[in-house]
Amino acid sequence: MIISSPGDFRAAAARRLPRFLFDYIDGGAYDETTLGRNVADLAQVALRQRVLRNVADIECGTTLWGQRLSMPLALAPVGLTGMFARRGEVQAARAAAAAGIPFTLSTVSVCPIEEVAAASPVPIWFQLYVLKDRGFMRNALERAQAAGIRTLVFTVDMPVPGARYRDRRSGMSGDFASIRRYFQAALHPCWAWDVGLRGRPHDLGNISRYRGQKTGLEDYIGWLGANFDPSISWSDLEWIRSFWQGPMIIKGILDPSDARDAVSFGADGIVVSNHGGRQLDGALSSARALPAIRDAIGDDLSILADSGVRSGLDVARMLALGADAVLIGRAFVYALAARGQAGLADLLALFEKELRVAMALTGARTVQELDRNALADTH
Ligand code: FNR
Ligand code: LAC
Repeated sequence: MIISSPGDFRAAAARRLPRFLFDYIDGGAYDETTLGRNVADLAQVALRQRVLRNVADIECGTTLWGQRLSMPLALAPVGLTGMFARRGEVQAARAAAAAGIPFTLSTVSVCPIEEVAAASPVPIWFQLYVLKDRGFMRNALERAQAAGIRTLVFTVDMPVPGARYRDRRSGMSGDFASIRRYFQAALHPCWAWDVGLRGRPHDLGNISRYRGQKTGLEDYIGWLGANFDPSISWSDLEWIRSFWQGPMIIKGILDPSDARDAVSFGADGIVVSNHGGRQLDGALSSARALPAIRDAIGDDLSILADSGVRSGLDVARMLALGADAVLIGRAFVYALAARGQAGLADLLALFEKELRVAMALTGARTVQELDRNALADTH
């Protein structure tokens, strides 16, 4: 299968992965309305074409919390990445490091913090979920700091998991799930050999290490529902703020007043996100929510955005809407699942190329110049 654009990796991932894994990545909550809006609203953003502005030297690097990035992009935390490619978190962290952008390790990764941090030539970022067992939170933060991690992404839009009906249809959860998954794996022998057999152990690596016993994936979705803590509130954040030394970024903000609260609670940044349409179906797309959030908080802190970004051109659109940088979830996972670390490297090269071209054609020589002035509709 020939890959020529970032979007081509999705079909390649669909071929390679057992259905339950592809659908877990690809799907969203309920009717997937917000998932669709994320992509559609971003595609509707019209950019202002500018000419004759000497764009011979484009600088698409940027600095976030003192860290230099080769482009305004980071890999979003994605649970179970080690099921999509062999030791997938390690491969993704290495591809990100080689491309000069951050990799964010999910709390519910297959590979534990220590394995990924040791394999990555540069510090990774760590994403925290709050479990009912609060001892885990302290343990995870201590281990992350011991592993040299400075940047914490605290995800707040999942006090309970959204209803993912596709997961029930696919065999990720629901009746006869394990036998269905077994048959699906057998129909995908390349995956079964490379990841299913050689990618072991398969468990929630961070949690297993804490509990001292294998936390399995027999009923992953059920496990999330049973163990995530719906009582989390701003006061938990105060504790994390006092404990964590480095930058703390709150992920999952969609409302201007929550963004203002994040500023007053001492966050260093936020991620405008609806979790890729996997939580509240019917919520605004990130593309629509972002401008009002930027207006509400001005330049008080850095704003990252995700949900719906599928290309380097989409990165340019998010910057024009007010983001300082962008996270990608599905786009990177499709590439990793399809072709491993090399595939992800190719994807990131395509993203950079597209972003450079978009900057040149909108007349922006630096990432900072690609701001709301680049929106066609506001002029
Ligand atoms: C996610 N996301 C996510 N977020 C998080 O904070 N912790 C996590 O463990 C996960 N797990 C996860 C698994 C899968 C399969 C997906 C697709 C997403 C959300 C993710 O970080 C990000 O917000 C979205 O993926 C962004 O939307 P796009 O780029 O996928 O459209
Ligand atoms: C998800 C969780 C794990 O979206 O964040 O599936």
